[in-house]
Amino acid sequence: MEWNADFYEDKHGFVADYGKDLLSHVPDNPGQAILDLGCGTGALTQELLAKSAHVVGADASPDMVRKARMLHPDIDFRVVDACRMPWSNRFDVVFSNAVFHWISDQKALLENIFRVLKPQGRLVCEFGAVRNIHRIQQAFQSSLSRQKRHHENPFYFPTVEEYRKLVEQAGLHPELVMDYDRPTPLKDGENGLRNWVRQFFASDLSPLPGAGRIRILEEMESALRDELWDGTQWVADYRRIRVIAVK
Ligand SMILES: C[S@@+](CC[C@H](N)C(=O)[O-])C[C@H]1O[C@@H](n2cnc3c(N)ncnc32)[C@H](O)[C@@H]1O
Repeated sequence: MEWNADFYEDKHGFVADYGKDLLSHVPDNPGQAILDLGCGTGALTQELLAKSAHVVGADASPDMVRKARMLHPDIDFRVVDACRMPWSNRFDVVFSNAVFHWISDQKALLENIFRVLKPQGRLVCEFGAVRNIHRIQQAFQSSLSRQKRHHENPFYFPTVEEYRKLVEQAGLHPELVMDYDRPTPLKDGENGLRNWVRQFFASDLSPLPGAGRIRILEEMESALRDELWDGTQWVADYRRIRVIAVK
């Protein structure tokens, strides 16, 4: 999908905020080389500097990398696809928050991670688990189908068992693979859900005429209000999978 870095930075800063807990799995070692894979606008890349001076941020979106460079001019950011990384035996840690569910070729992704890690190197990542945003996606699909459209699920949300197997097949040794519910408040009060839908389902929404788009957002809000509106904010039904694995 097309990422709008300014909108992301403004409305979806919570993504990186939640990623901060994942940082505790990155060892403190000033000499180590760390790759922040799918770094977005670089908020966590910046935090990784507390673990080591050798940090590279990589993202497939030129707009995200442009914004990351602007916000953190001293960090080395590159436009790189996670499935075609240009390195071998280069990093002690590959860190990644909220990225892998966007990538359909998981085999290529994990093979690339194996290759760029040094021996004993560590993958530390978290992304969407099975049934992540299940209610939001159901409501979106029902509303789209009333306009004779189909929602192509762009996400990969695996089970723990499925992902453990993929990690092992890539040659990595899993130390931790777990999933958990992480209900996630969305910024901006009443507008939280529509901001989220506009960012993350942009490719389904953008072909629709303006009135059709508005109807979908309104229908979703009324379908989800009982479950996901807590009186002051929308709370998305996120579920996460966390993976720590060693080469
Ligand atoms: C939800 S953002 C997360 C950004 C950041 N890690 C954070 O925690 O704020 C997902 C990021 O993954 C990037 N991404 C998606 N597919 C990718 C791929 N194949 N290779 C590299 N980056 C990718 C997107 O461009 C986007 O910046």
